[in-house]
Amino acid sequence: MAAPVVDAEYLKEIEKARRDLRALIASKNCAPIMLRLAWHDAGTFDVNTKTGGPNGSIRHEEEFTHGSNAGLKIAIDLCEPVKRKHPRITYADLYQLAGVVAVEVTGGPTIDFVPGRRDSSVCPREGRLPDAKQGAPHLRDIFYRMGLSDKDIVALSGGHTLGRAHSERSGFEGAWTIEPLKFDNSYFIETHLNLSLDSELLKGETEGLLKLPTDNALLHDPEFRRYVELYAKVHLICMLFYDDWHDEELFFKDYAESHKKLSELGFTSR
Ligand code: HEM
Repeated sequence: MAAPVVDAEYLKEIEKARRDLRALIASKNCAPIMLRLAWHDAGTFDVNTKTGGPNGSIRHEEEFTHGSNAGLKIAIDLCEPVKRKHPRITYADLYQLAGVVAVEVTGGPTIDFVPGRRDSSVCPREGRLPDAKQGAPHLRDIFYRMGLSDKDIVALSGGHTLGRAHSERSGFEGAWTIEPLKFDNSYFIETHLNLSLDSELLKGETEGLLKLPTDNALLHDPEFRRYVELYAKVHLICMLFYDDWHDEELFFKDYAESHKKLSELGFTSR
């Protein structure tokens, strides 16, 4: 399919859709599943064959019925009224815009959004997304195939600051963080660093939170762990005196860069 013509009118529609998505996500509290939709549409990219990627193909039954996409039909359906209101916007742009807005409205960093993705009806074969039961070598296989780096793997895994697993969808159950509708660096602190902070309070609070085998892999691989520790940096002084004690600057900066890369895999704007 041809790329959309990104003229002044298209850009205006994008801004209107952005507002509609903000309102939709706030009213339905559906930021996590919108972020997951954007990631699963984009994360099928293969840098060698230039197939898959953020091209809206996940809207087709052939793809949303893949095991790893269980539950995502909900997000596809939520986007549909926005598409009907702004028919010129491609599904590919709409889903990536939804991901960017989901991060923003839950308190995360602003992610630069460049429109112009074309839609595709060619669905990738099943098995291109990561399997949560595996470890570091598998994560590298999958993300390097997309053309992404170790730093991208860790930063993007911070997306699990939002949402939760549902046993009927993935076989896993529970949230990664105490406040799953707030985008912050708590994924790194609450799922990983309770061991280095000798705080009974933190330990107590983090019990019962979800940790996938792939989350554990981030702690046990030395290269990954380097980034986990950077992103979990805590200002102890702030922790003692203020509620807002997460030092998120570096995580937010790296996350915004990696998310932009993910949202533009195989896409070159003109
Ligand atoms: C949910 C695996 C990376 C965003 C989930 C779930 C699994 C999973 C098993 C639970 C699904 C369910 O039961 O509903 C993985 C694995 C990854 C990965 C193995 C490899 C690193 C990412 C990335 C992002 C992301 C890169 C975004 C940047 C999310 C979100 C949810 C989620 C927001 C919550 C969805 C909801 O609440 O409905 N992930 N994920 N994940 N994932 Fe990931």
